[in-house]
Amino acid sequence: MTVTRVLTGITTSGIPHLGNYVGAIRPTVAASRTAGTQNFYFLADLHALIKVQDPARVQRSTLEIAASWLACGLEPDNDRVWFYRQSEIVEIPELTWFLTCVAGKGILNRAHAYKASVDKNRAEGEDDDNGITAGLFMYPVLMAADILVFNAHKVPVGRDQIQHIEMARDFAQRFNHLYGDHLVLPEAMIEEHVATLPGLDGRKMSKSYDNTIPLFCTREELKKLIFSIVTDSRAPGEAKDTEGSALFQLYQAFASADETAAMRDAFAQGIGWGDAKQKLFDLIDAELSPMRERYNALMQQPQRIEEMLREGARVARERHGLPLMRRLREAVGLRDLSKLAETASEHAEKPKTALPQLKQYREQDGKFYFKLISDSGETLLHSLGFGNPKDAGAWVARFKREGGEALGAAEASMEAFAADTRVVAVAALDALKHAEDERERAKNA
Ligand code: TRP
Repeated sequence: MTVTRVLTGITTSGIPHLGNYVGAIRPTVAASRTAGTQNFYFLADLHALIKVQDPARVQRSTLEIAASWLACGLEPDNDRVWFYRQSEIVEIPELTWFLTCVAGKGILNRAHAYKASVDKNRAEGEDDDNGITAGLFMYPVLMAADILVFNAHKVPVGRDQIQHIEMARDFAQRFNHLYGDHLVLPEAMIEEHVATLPGLDGRKMSKSYDNTIPLFCTREELKKLIFSIVTDSRAPGEAKDTEGSALFQLYQAFASADETAAMRDAFAQGIGWGDAKQKLFDLIDAELSPMRERYNALMQQPQRIEEMLREGARVARERHGLPLMRRLREAVGLRDLSKLAETASEHAEKPKTALPQLKQYREQDGKFYFKLISDSGETLLHSLGFGNPKDAGAWVARFKREGGEALGAAEASMEAFAADTRVVAVAALDALKHAEDERERAKNA
């Protein structure tokens, strides 16, 4: 079975609100429990620097968003669920540069956020680029690197981010075209049934409209905010429209189908706004209460979160980021200079997309072996001898299925190898697995 890698990030530029919860946190926690997936969830703190130049706010928001994700039930295990800070994956800025060198500037000119800023400048009679940093312009490339560094297949995002995923596909395609098939082309995953949550004033809930309900404010504040939701002036007893009602949409985002139907009836029968608000408060508070308690406890233990994020980043780099970048450095020509002769002759006879190989064979001693040979023909790993050819075959099959991740389990059946070789071997095994996955996909398509 092929594993689907799901990846998404939240920019650490403010306090998480109910819109972030319904649109991003709740669905990703649910997705992380789906069998057959690997999940990469992260705090996009490098992206935050584009908008926020207040260091204390970046730090505080990072802690709050991390604590929120955990309080809502995310359980990182560094095996199927990874949780980390973007800024700790140092391969991301490196990959950003590789991608920058293939990204078309014309494509970046069309990015919504950048274009909106230019349009605003024009409307105000300013120079096009007034007050626009290169960071804002490069936003989509950094985001592409976030996704591509872990070869993610699916990226759950809001509709406003679809363009960014398309750009990531474009950059990956250009890179693959030049350097061989290294990067997975990601797809946006849009929750069709999650409407954007309205804010207190009925417009989309958003920091920029100042109409948000913080996810983990106190009960009292939650109540006060819910009672301040804008409604029309219909009196109790008068039938009310669910259509266009922020209150109803908020209710729906937290209610079961039956509860929603009952509220629809209550609207038709003229429930008073005060009663409706009380019901909305009770519903939301019931869902958030246990999480709020966990959140408050987590906020008292920043050290624990710090350690968890560091460990997540460390293992994610070691297993995924480093091997991929090792391969990409090789692919673009940032190579060991002493191997110039080898690569020159290799190029003369081999296509650019040569793959590493796993070879099975029988030795003089009558035993069965396998070995891993790199794409440049170097033998990276030797197995110990097996009495039965099926045992050697089983490892080969497992490596093709699981890639470099299987190396730990296989180690006892292998000749010892150096730490340096491990990184190269993991990259080679991942490349094999990747080719195998692509073949599967093509077959099933
Ligand atoms: N740009 C995203 C947002 O503002 C956050 C983000 C950064 C992201 N990197 C990402 C989302 C990678 C998905 C994948 O919502």
